[in-house]
Amino acid sequence: MKMAVLLSGTGRTLDNFYNNIKNGTMQGSVEVVLSNQKDALGLTKAEQYGYPAFHASGNEAINKIIDQYQVDLVVLAGFLKLYTPPARLQKSVLNIHPSLIPSFCGAGFYGMNVHNAVHKRGVKLTGCTVHFANEVYDEGPIVVQKSVAVTAEDTPKDIAAKVFELECLAYPEAINLVAEKGIDYFWNISR
Ligand code: GAR
Repeated sequence: MKMAVLLSGTGRTLDNFYNNIKNGTMQGSVEVVLSNQKDALGLTKAEQYGYPAFHASGNEAINKIIDQYQVDLVVLAGFLKLYTPPARLQKSVLNIHPSLIPSFCGAGFYGMNVHNAVHKRGVKLTGCTVHFANEVYDEGPIVVQKSVAVTAEDTPKDIAAKVFELECLAYPEAINLVAEKGIDYFWNISR
């Protein structure tokens, strides 16, 4: 899969992609990295990895750059704005969310907000979800979910660390599955 990676923050997911691609455990290549945040650490990391990296603040600006690359999958890696892809990539946007969708998701649920809410509610299981994105936050066909137990002693930070460990397995696994089965497969099986 030829990927465009969109991020807003530290680029930990980009680190994970870089390492998995280097180790041969994830199919695909990162063609371009874009951030809506000019000073995102993830952009600096992208440059260090040798990926073309750009700051672009709105959908239109992002899509103009994506159009200049050969991309068949747009991968959201901690991109904290609703994204609308160009028409040809409408079904080709993957996102990772740090909870078991449909719990703790939707507008306002991102990053530590999710783990604080999980902690407050006292659920015994949490996890992460890789899914195709549509025009609504955290909707679209689910590709991979992984779960982990939450103990009474876990702080929100502990929960975040456990979930990120799962994300590092779930995203490469999902991208490999999409490479193997094709994008349409997931839209066709979603009800
Ligand atoms: C992702 O790993 C994901 O859990 C979360 O942001 C993390 C990456 O941010 N995404 C969402 O909450 C999307 N709803 P970082 O690279 O800035 O640490």
